[in-house]
Amino acid sequence: MKRILSGIRPTGKLHLGNYLGAVRHFVDLSRDPENDCLFFIANLHGLTTGASCEAAMEMKEDIIGIVLDYLAAGLDPEASNVLIYAQSSVPEITELTWILSCVTPLSELLGMHHFADKRDKLSGAGESVNAGLLVYPVLMSADILGPCANIVPVGDDQREHVELARRTARRFNDRFEKDFFPIPDTMEGEGIRVPGLKGSGKMGKSEPKGTVNLTDSVEQVNHKVMKADKMLPANPSSVLSPVEPRIGEAPGIPDICRVFHLHDHVTLVADDPVIGRIHSGCETGTLRCGDCKILLAQRMNALLEPIRERRTELLASRGRDLAMEILVEHGRRARALIAPTVEKVKDLVGVPSYRRKEGA
Ligand code: TRP
Repeated sequence: MKRILSGIRPTGKLHLGNYLGAVRHFVDLSRDPENDCLFFIANLHGLTTGASCEAAMEMKEDIIGIVLDYLAAGLDPEASNVLIYAQSSVPEITELTWILSCVTPLSELLGMHHFADKRDKLSGAGESVNAGLLVYPVLMSADILGPCANIVPVGDDQREHVELARRTARRFNDRFEKDFFPIPDTMEGEGIRVPGLKGSGKMGKSEPKGTVNLTDSVEQVNHKVMKADKMLPANPSSVLSPVEPRIGEAPGIPDICRVFHLHDHVTLVADDPVIGRIHSGCETGTLRCGDCKILLAQRMNALLEPIRERRTELLASRGRDLAMEILVEHGRRARALIAPTVEKVKDLVGVPSYRRKEGA
Protein backbone atom coordinates (compact mmCIF):
# COMPACT_ATOMS: atom_id res chain seq x y z
CA MET A 1 0.00 0.00 0.00
CA LYS A 2 1.11 3.53 -0.77
CA ARG A 3 -0.21 6.41 1.21
CA ILE A 4 -1.10 9.37 -1.00
CA LEU A 5 -1.88 12.71 0.57
CA SER A 6 -2.83 16.09 -0.78
CA GLY A 7 -4.40 19.21 0.68
CA ILE A 8 -6.32 22.07 -0.77
CA ARG A 9 -6.87 25.44 0.85
CA PRO A 10 -10.53 26.46 1.16
CA THR A 11 -10.43 29.64 -0.91
CA GLY A 12 -13.77 29.71 -2.67
CA LYS A 13 -15.37 27.39 -5.13
CA LEU A 14 -13.42 24.69 -6.91
CA HIS A 15 -12.72 25.55 -10.51
CA LEU A 16 -11.71 23.82 -13.68
CA GLY A 17 -8.02 24.49 -12.93
CA ASN A 18 -8.36 22.58 -9.63
CA TYR A 19 -10.19 19.81 -11.40
CA LEU A 20 -7.76 19.36 -14.27
CA GLY A 21 -4.63 19.98 -12.21
CA ALA A 22 -5.54 17.97 -9.13
CA VAL A 23 -8.98 16.57 -8.44
CA ARG A 24 -9.27 14.32 -11.47
CA HIS A 25 -5.90 12.79 -10.57
CA PHE A 26 -7.15 12.25 -7.02
CA VAL A 27 -10.13 10.38 -8.45
CA ASP A 28 -7.88 8.19 -10.62
CA LEU A 29 -5.49 7.50 -7.76
CA SER A 30 -8.34 6.58 -5.42
CA ARG A 31 -9.60 3.94 -7.85
CA ASP A 32 -6.42 1.93 -7.36
CA PRO A 33 -6.97 -0.24 -4.26
CA GLU A 34 -3.19 -0.25 -3.68
CA ASN A 35 -3.42 3.44 -2.82
CA ASP A 36 -4.51 4.69 0.54
CA CYS A 37 -5.73 8.24 -0.16
CA LEU A 38 -5.96 11.17 2.22
CA PHE A 39 -7.44 14.30 0.64
CA PHE A 40 -7.83 16.96 3.27
CA ILE A 41 -8.90 20.57 3.36
CA ALA A 42 -6.19 22.81 4.74
CA ASN A 43 -8.37 25.21 6.67
CA LEU A 44 -5.63 26.08 9.15
CA HIS A 45 -3.53 27.20 6.21
CA GLY A 46 -6.57 29.17 5.12
CA LEU A 47 -6.16 31.31 8.23
CA THR A 48 -2.82 32.66 7.07
CA THR A 49 -4.37 34.77 4.35
CA GLY A 50 -7.07 36.62 6.18
CA ALA A 51 -8.37 35.70 9.59
CA SER A 52 -11.59 37.65 10.10
CA CYS A 53 -15.21 37.04 11.02
CA GLU A 54 -16.30 37.11 7.38
CA ALA A 55 -13.46 34.80 6.34
CA ALA A 56 -14.51 32.41 9.11
CA MET A 57 -18.02 32.15 7.71
CA GLU A 58 -16.73 31.76 4.17
CA MET A 59 -14.28 29.08 5.11
CA LYS A 60 -16.96 26.97 6.78
CA GLU A 61 -19.12 27.35 3.70
CA ASP A 62 -16.25 26.62 1.29
CA ILE A 63 -15.38 23.38 3.05
CA ILE A 64 -18.88 22.01 2.49
CA GLY A 65 -18.62 23.10 -1.15
CA ILE A 66 -15.27 21.35 -1.61
CA VAL A 67 -16.56 18.10 -0.15
CA LEU A 68 -19.56 18.24 -2.50
CA ASP A 69 -17.31 19.03 -5.46
CA TYR A 70 -15.05 16.10 -4.56
CA LEU A 71 -18.03 13.77 -4.46
CA ALA A 72 -19.42 15.21 -7.69
CA ALA A 73 -16.03 14.78 -9.35
CA GLY A 74 -16.11 11.09 -8.48
CA LEU A 75 -14.40 10.52 -5.13
CA ASP A 76 -16.21 7.77 -3.29
CA PRO A 77 -16.50 8.49 0.44
CA GLU A 78 -17.64 4.91 1.04
CA ALA A 79 -14.43 3.47 -0.37
CA SER A 80 -12.27 2.08 2.41
CA ASN A 81 -9.13 3.70 0.96
CA VAL A 82 -10.40 7.30 0.84
CA LEU A 83 -10.49 9.91 3.60
CA ILE A 84 -11.75 13.46 3.09
CA TYR A 85 -11.19 15.52 6.23
CA ALA A 86 -10.58 18.98 7.55
CA GLN A 87 -7.10 19.71 8.89
CA SER A 88 -8.71 21.27 11.95
CA SER A 89 -10.32 17.92 12.85
CA VAL A 90 -6.89 16.58 13.79
CA PRO A 91 -5.43 18.75 16.57
CA GLU A 92 -2.34 16.51 16.71
CA ILE A 93 -1.24 18.07 13.42
CA THR A 94 -0.92 21.41 15.14
CA GLU A 95 1.06 19.80 17.96
CA LEU A 96 3.37 18.18 15.45
CA THR A 97 3.81 21.56 13.76
CA TRP A 98 5.27 22.99 16.94
CA ILE A 99 7.67 20.09 17.37
CA LEU A 100 8.78 20.18 13.74
CA SER A 101 9.24 23.94 13.91
CA CYS A 102 11.89 23.25 16.54
CA VAL A 103 13.91 21.15 14.10
CA THR A 104 13.41 23.45 11.08
CA PRO A 105 16.04 26.13 10.50
CA LEU A 106 14.59 29.63 10.35
CA SER A 107 16.81 30.39 7.36
CA GLU A 108 14.99 27.75 5.30
CA LEU A 109 11.61 29.26 6.08
CA LEU A 110 12.81 32.77 5.27
CA GLY A 111 14.16 31.43 1.98
CA MET A 112 10.88 29.91 0.72
CA HIS A 113 9.73 31.61 -2.49
CA HIS A 114 6.15 31.27 -1.43
CA PHE A 115 6.84 33.22 1.76
CA ALA A 116 8.97 35.84 0.02
CA ASP A 117 6.28 36.43 -2.63
CA LYS A 118 3.48 36.76 -0.09
CA ARG A 119 5.60 38.99 2.13
CA ASP A 120 6.49 41.29 -0.78
CA LYS A 121 2.89 41.49 -1.93
CA LEU A 122 1.56 42.24 1.53
CA SER A 123 4.20 44.74 2.49
CA GLY A 124 3.83 46.34 -0.96
CA ALA A 125 0.15 46.85 -0.12
CA GLY A 126 1.10 48.26 3.28
CA GLU A 127 -0.26 45.24 5.14
CA SER A 128 1.50 43.34 7.89
CA VAL A 129 2.85 39.82 7.44
CA ASN A 130 1.60 37.37 10.07
CA ALA A 131 3.89 34.78 11.60
CA GLY A 132 1.58 32.03 10.34
CA LEU A 133 2.79 32.74 6.81
CA LEU A 134 6.34 31.99 7.88
CA VAL A 135 5.37 28.77 9.65
CA TYR A 136 3.05 27.72 6.81
CA PRO A 137 5.52 25.19 5.37
CA VAL A 138 6.08 23.59 8.78
CA LEU A 139 2.36 23.02 9.12
CA MET A 140 2.52 21.46 5.69
CA SER A 141 5.36 19.19 6.81
CA ALA A 142 3.16 18.10 9.72
CA ASP A 143 0.24 17.46 7.33
CA ILE A 144 2.50 15.20 5.32
CA LEU A 145 4.60 13.51 8.00
CA GLY A 146 1.85 13.07 10.60
CA PRO A 147 0.07 10.47 8.46
CA CYS A 148 3.43 9.11 7.14
CA ALA A 149 2.52 9.93 3.53
CA ASN A 150 4.59 8.34 0.76
CA ILE A 151 3.37 10.39 -2.19
CA VAL A 152 2.22 13.99 -2.25
CA PRO A 153 0.76 15.10 -5.58
CA VAL A 154 1.00 18.89 -5.75
CA GLY A 155 1.27 21.67 -8.30
CA ASP A 156 4.64 23.20 -9.16
CA ASP A 157 4.11 26.07 -6.75
CA GLN A 158 4.03 23.65 -3.81
CA ARG A 159 7.05 21.55 -4.67
CA GLU A 160 9.46 23.54 -2.55
CA HIS A 161 7.22 22.87 0.44
CA VAL A 162 7.30 19.14 -0.17
CA GLU A 163 11.09 19.41 -0.51
CA LEU A 164 11.18 21.01 2.92
CA ALA A 165 9.05 18.18 4.33
CA ARG A 166 11.56 15.70 2.90
CA ARG A 167 14.47 17.49 4.54
CA THR A 168 12.55 17.73 7.80
CA ALA A 169 11.81 14.00 7.74
CA ARG A 170 15.51 13.26 7.18
CA ARG A 171 16.60 15.61 9.92
CA PHE A 172 14.15 14.11 12.36
CA ASN A 173 15.11 10.55 11.46
CA ASP A 174 18.83 11.37 11.79
CA ARG A 175 18.36 12.92 15.16
CA PHE A 176 15.75 10.67 16.78
CA GLU A 177 15.08 7.38 15.06
CA LYS A 178 16.32 5.94 11.83
CA ASP A 179 13.52 5.47 9.24
CA PHE A 180 10.87 6.88 11.58
CA PHE A 181 9.22 9.01 8.90
CA PRO A 182 9.07 7.74 5.34
CA ILE A 183 10.59 10.29 2.93
CA PRO A 184 7.67 11.63 0.89
CA ASP A 185 7.85 11.97 -2.88
CA THR A 186 5.98 14.23 -5.24
CA MET A 187 4.69 12.65 -8.42
CA GLU A 188 6.34 12.63 -11.79
CA GLY A 189 4.65 14.33 -14.65
CA GLU A 190 2.15 16.41 -12.78
CA GLY A 191 2.20 20.05 -11.83
CA ILE A 192 -0.22 21.02 -14.54
CA ARG A 193 -0.74 24.75 -14.68
CA VAL A 194 -4.03 25.59 -16.29
CA PRO A 195 -4.03 29.19 -17.54
CA GLY A 196 -7.06 31.36 -16.77
CA LEU A 197 -9.33 32.48 -19.59
CA LYS A 198 -8.22 35.99 -18.73
CA GLY A 199 -5.38 37.65 -16.88
CA SER A 200 -1.77 36.89 -16.38
CA GLY A 201 -1.72 33.78 -14.24
CA LYS A 202 -3.15 30.36 -13.73
CA MET A 203 -6.87 29.87 -13.40
CA GLY A 204 -7.96 30.96 -9.94
CA LYS A 205 -9.95 33.06 -7.61
CA SER A 206 -7.96 36.24 -8.23
CA GLU A 207 -9.35 36.46 -11.79
CA PRO A 208 -13.04 35.45 -11.52
CA LYS A 209 -13.90 36.32 -15.12
CA GLY A 210 -11.17 34.00 -16.33
CA THR A 211 -12.15 31.15 -14.04
CA VAL A 212 -14.64 28.42 -14.86
CA ASN A 213 -16.13 27.10 -11.63
CA LEU A 214 -17.27 23.50 -11.37
CA THR A 215 -20.68 24.91 -10.43
CA ASP A 216 -20.97 27.27 -13.45
CA SER A 217 -23.98 26.79 -15.71
CA VAL A 218 -23.65 26.09 -19.45
CA GLU A 219 -24.45 29.74 -20.14
CA GLN A 220 -21.84 31.01 -17.72
CA VAL A 221 -19.20 28.79 -19.29
CA ASN A 222 -20.18 29.94 -22.80
CA HIS A 223 -20.03 33.56 -21.77
CA LYS A 224 -16.63 33.29 -20.09
CA VAL A 225 -15.08 31.34 -22.93
CA MET A 226 -16.31 33.75 -25.61
CA LYS A 227 -14.64 36.60 -23.67
CA ALA A 228 -11.35 34.73 -23.24
CA ASP A 229 -8.05 36.44 -24.06
CA LYS A 230 -6.02 34.77 -26.75
CA MET A 231 -2.45 35.52 -25.87
CA LEU A 232 -1.03 33.11 -23.29
CA PRO A 233 0.01 34.56 -19.95
CA ALA A 234 3.78 34.83 -19.72
CA ASN A 235 5.17 31.63 -18.31
CA PRO A 236 8.19 32.22 -16.08
CA SER A 237 9.90 29.12 -17.44
CA SER A 238 9.49 29.85 -21.15
CA VAL A 239 10.00 33.08 -23.01
CA LEU A 240 7.02 33.61 -25.24
CA SER A 241 6.96 36.33 -27.83
CA PRO A 242 4.38 38.94 -26.94
CA VAL A 243 2.52 38.74 -30.23
CA GLU A 244 -1.17 38.08 -30.76
CA PRO A 245 -1.62 34.46 -31.83
CA ARG A 246 -4.00 35.56 -34.58
CA ILE A 247 -5.24 38.76 -36.12
CA GLY A 248 -8.73 38.69 -37.61
CA GLU A 249 -9.33 35.77 -39.95
CA ALA A 250 -5.65 35.21 -40.72
CA PRO A 251 -3.91 31.92 -40.00
CA GLY A 252 -2.91 31.70 -36.34
CA ILE A 253 -0.17 30.34 -34.10
CA PRO A 254 -1.94 27.81 -31.85
CA ASP A 255 1.08 27.15 -29.65
CA ILE A 256 0.98 30.65 -28.21
CA CYS A 257 -2.82 30.82 -27.99
CA ARG A 258 -4.39 30.17 -24.62
CA VAL A 259 -7.62 29.00 -26.23
CA PHE A 260 -5.63 26.24 -27.91
CA HIS A 261 -3.81 25.43 -24.66
CA LEU A 262 -7.12 25.18 -22.87
CA HIS A 263 -8.40 22.85 -25.59
CA ASP A 264 -5.42 20.68 -24.84
CA HIS A 265 -6.01 20.78 -21.06
CA VAL A 266 -9.67 19.89 -21.42
CA THR A 267 -8.73 16.72 -23.30
CA LEU A 268 -9.00 13.69 -21.10
CA VAL A 269 -7.93 10.96 -23.49
CA ALA A 270 -4.32 10.71 -24.64
CA ASP A 271 -3.68 11.74 -28.25
CA ASP A 272 -7.24 12.87 -28.87
CA PRO A 273 -7.39 13.49 -32.64
CA VAL A 274 -9.56 16.55 -32.06
CA ILE A 275 -6.49 18.41 -30.80
CA GLY A 276 -4.59 17.82 -34.03
CA ARG A 277 -7.57 19.07 -36.01
CA ILE A 278 -7.89 22.22 -33.92
CA HIS A 279 -4.16 22.85 -34.20
CA SER A 280 -4.08 22.59 -37.97
CA GLY A 281 -7.40 24.41 -38.35
CA CYS A 282 -5.91 27.38 -36.51
CA GLU A 283 -2.58 27.25 -38.35
CA THR A 284 -4.23 27.17 -41.74
CA GLY A 285 -6.92 29.67 -40.81
CA THR A 286 -9.76 27.26 -41.66
CA LEU A 287 -10.99 27.16 -38.05
CA ARG A 288 -12.01 30.70 -37.14
CA CYS A 289 -11.28 32.02 -33.65
CA GLY A 290 -14.95 32.42 -32.79
CA ASP A 291 -15.71 28.86 -33.82
CA CYS A 292 -12.67 27.61 -31.93
CA LYS A 293 -14.01 29.27 -28.79
CA ILE A 294 -17.49 27.85 -29.32
CA LEU A 295 -15.89 24.44 -29.61
CA LEU A 296 -13.89 25.01 -26.41
CA ALA A 297 -17.03 26.00 -24.51
CA GLN A 298 -18.75 22.86 -25.80
CA ARG A 299 -15.85 20.67 -24.78
CA MET A 300 -15.67 22.27 -21.32
CA ASN A 301 -19.40 21.84 -20.85
CA ALA A 302 -19.20 18.19 -21.90
CA LEU A 303 -16.48 17.66 -19.30
CA LEU A 304 -18.42 19.48 -16.59
CA GLU A 305 -21.83 18.04 -17.34
CA PRO A 306 -21.56 14.80 -15.36
CA ILE A 307 -20.01 16.71 -12.43
CA ARG A 308 -22.81 19.27 -12.50
CA GLU A 309 -25.43 16.56 -12.66
CA ARG A 310 -24.00 14.69 -9.70
CA ARG A 311 -23.71 17.90 -7.70
CA THR A 312 -27.31 18.85 -8.40
CA GLU A 313 -28.42 15.36 -7.40
CA LEU A 314 -26.40 15.56 -4.20
CA LEU A 315 -27.83 18.94 -3.28
CA ALA A 316 -31.35 17.77 -4.05
CA SER A 317 -30.90 14.83 -1.71
CA ARG A 318 -28.99 15.35 1.54
CA GLY A 319 -25.92 17.04 0.13
CA ARG A 320 -24.97 19.39 2.93
CA ASP A 321 -25.78 16.90 5.66
CA LEU A 322 -23.83 14.26 3.82
CA ALA A 323 -20.82 16.58 3.49
CA MET A 324 -20.99 17.31 7.20
CA GLU A 325 -21.22 13.62 8.08
CA ILE A 326 -18.19 12.86 5.94
CA LEU A 327 -16.19 15.62 7.61
CA VAL A 328 -17.12 14.27 11.04
CA GLU A 329 -16.62 10.56 10.34
CA HIS A 330 -13.55 10.85 8.12
CA GLY A 331 -12.13 13.44 10.50
CA ARG A 332 -12.45 10.93 13.30
CA ARG A 333 -10.75 8.23 11.26
CA ALA A 334 -7.96 10.56 10.15
CA ARG A 335 -7.34 11.51 13.76
CA ALA A 336 -7.22 7.87 14.84
CA LEU A 337 -4.66 7.28 12.11
CA ILE A 338 -2.44 10.29 12.82
CA ALA A 339 -2.56 10.62 16.63
CA PRO A 340 -0.47 7.51 17.45
CA THR A 341 2.40 8.76 15.24
CA VAL A 342 2.33 12.16 16.91
CA GLU A 343 2.25 10.47 20.30
CA LYS A 344 5.42 8.56 19.36
CA VAL A 345 7.04 11.75 18.14
CA LYS A 346 6.24 13.45 21.42
CA ASP A 347 7.78 10.61 23.32
CA LEU A 348 10.87 10.57 21.10
CA VAL A 349 11.51 14.27 21.59
CA GLY A 350 10.87 14.06 25.32
CA VAL A 351 7.47 15.68 25.72
CA PRO A 352 5.03 12.81 26.23
CA SER A 353 1.39 13.49 27.04
CA TYR A 354 1.68 12.05 30.58
CA ARG A 355 -1.70 10.37 30.29
CA ARG A 356 -2.86 7.09 31.72
CA LYS A 357 -2.74 4.41 29.04
CA GLU A 358 -6.21 3.44 27.74
CA GLY A 359 -7.55 0.54 29.81
CA ALA A 360 -4.87 0.87 32.50
N1 TRP B 1 -0.37 24.68 0.67
C1 TRP B 1 -1.10 23.86 -0.27
C2 TRP B 1 -1.72 24.76 -1.34
O1 TRP B 1 -1.97 25.90 -1.10
C3 TRP B 1 -2.18 23.09 0.41
C4 TRP B 1 -1.61 22.11 1.37
C5 TRP B 1 -1.55 22.24 2.73
C6 TRP B 1 -0.99 20.86 1.06
N2 TRP B 1 -0.94 21.17 3.28
C7 TRP B 1 -0.58 20.31 2.30
C8 TRP B 1 -0.75 20.19 -0.13
C9 TRP B 1 0.08 19.08 2.36
C10 TRP B 1 -0.08 18.95 -0.07
C11 TRP B 1 0.33 18.42 1.18
O2 TRP B 1 -1.96 24.29 -2.42
